[in-house]
Amino acid sequence: MSTHDNVLRVGMVGYAFMGAAHSQAWRTVNRVYDLPAQVRMALVCGRDEPKVAEAAGRLGWDGHTTDWRRLVESDEIDVVDICTPGDSHCEIALAALAAGKHVLCEKPLANTVEEARQMTAAAARAQTAGVRAMCGFNYRRVPAVALMRRLVADGRLGEIRHVRAVYLQDWIVDPQFPLVWRLQKDRAGSGALGDIGAHIIDLTQYVTGQLITGVSAVTETFVKERPLPAGSSGLAAQADGNGRATGRVTVDDAAVFVARLDGGALATYEATRFATGRKNALRVEINGSLGSVVFDLERLNELEFLDATRPAAEQGFSRILVTEPEHPYLSAWWPPGHIIGYEHSFTHQMRDFVEAVATGVDPTPSFADALQVQLVLDAVTRSAERAAWTEVEPALAEVAA
Ligand SMILES: NC(=O)c1ccc[n+]([C@@H]2O[C@H](COP(=O)([O-])OP(=O)(O)OC[C@H]3O[C@@H](n4cnc5c(N)ncnc54)[C@H](O)[C@@H]3O)[C@@H](O)[C@H]2O)c1
Repeated sequence: MSTHDNVLRVGMVGYAFMGAAHSQAWRTVNRVYDLPAQVRMALVCGRDEPKVAEAAGRLGWDGHTTDWRRLVESDEIDVVDICTPGDSHCEIALAALAAGKHVLCEKPLANTVEEARQMTAAAARAQTAGVRAMCGFNYRRVPAVALMRRLVADGRLGEIRHVRAVYLQDWIVDPQFPLVWRLQKDRAGSGALGDIGAHIIDLTQYVTGQLITGVSAVTETFVKERPLPAGSSGLAAQADGNGRATGRVTVDDAAVFVARLDGGALATYEATRFATGRKNALRVEINGSLGSVVFDLERLNELEFLDATRPAAEQGFSRILVTEPEHPYLSAWWPPGHIIGYEHSFTHQMRDFVEAVATGVDPTPSFADALQVQLVLDAVTRSAERAAWTEVEPALAEVAA
């Protein structure tokens, strides 16, 4: 926390998709929520000077730099917000924590378990000096998801038996879609698995309060060669039938797995970028001994709930419109029925982060929570390679090692 009049000076690295979403949330958070600290959008970092200068003006940052090390080491920065691809999360987070900066890092935490373990250990060391670290699994902050967790925690679903989670996209169905960073293992760590599978792993563990202990997985890369993006270099390129330079896709296009949770539930997960017609379809259904609940991101203001303790003749899924002031995060927004959207999950994320930092509390999901997700991703990858049931390695042993 800055000593400067309860001001948190934020420096953000990366200004594209997540950079824009985070900027919107940093701009908004103090105008919606009454918080113990004021955010100052101090510095944004990108690699291209004219582009980052333009982005700083457009997104509302006071200054810009092309050197993330300068940002991380600056005395003018209290919080480092990491919005870059996974291959730079570890290096930036370690440097930021060593410099005593609070860190918000986009998901997945890292590209490997080894990196995630280093980051978690660094966060634990920094925590002893009051430095906070959090990973950006923003879907936890959708009010309907938080309500879903509350219903489970309050025992309204009874004993959880089934978790059914899918996250479906279709943006690379076209084999001519170029080989962007998300399709390169050295940049992204994995494909659909780490990008969107990580979200449903975190979301279901958060909602149920149960951790995945073992998995049996299959993964597939349907399109193995793709055209190189315009202006790219340094990839092992070869020519396709039309003479265009192509490169090898080194990540999964889709990952499907079954899992056991430590509270006894059975779970199924599907993460794919080949679900033709599905743009960003995250759906989770949970069945318990006393009821069921369903969340669908494309209808994110709603939650379907079935209360099996009601008389059989009156039972049925009811649609809860999650816009009441009693619902999580919503008292600061609009009158009931005036719905919110995707970007609000990021405002809620910043609210929780700022509140935790300003009041000296550890925010969640912590780096340790995100390491546990990374261990599940790793177990899925190993299971698919071995075609065998694979236990998730224990997170605590990893941290202590
Ligand atoms: N929470 C979510 O829902 C969600 C959604 C999308 C992406 N993400 C995560 O956010 C991160 C970024 O993804 P994105 O979609 O914003 O990617 P993107 O390609 O849109 O943006 C990446 C940004 O990082 C910058 N960058 C890359 N390497 C850099 C470096 N070494 N130094 C400075 N800047 C650098 C790029 O110039 C660009 O501005 C990833 O970890 C991704 O998994 C999270």
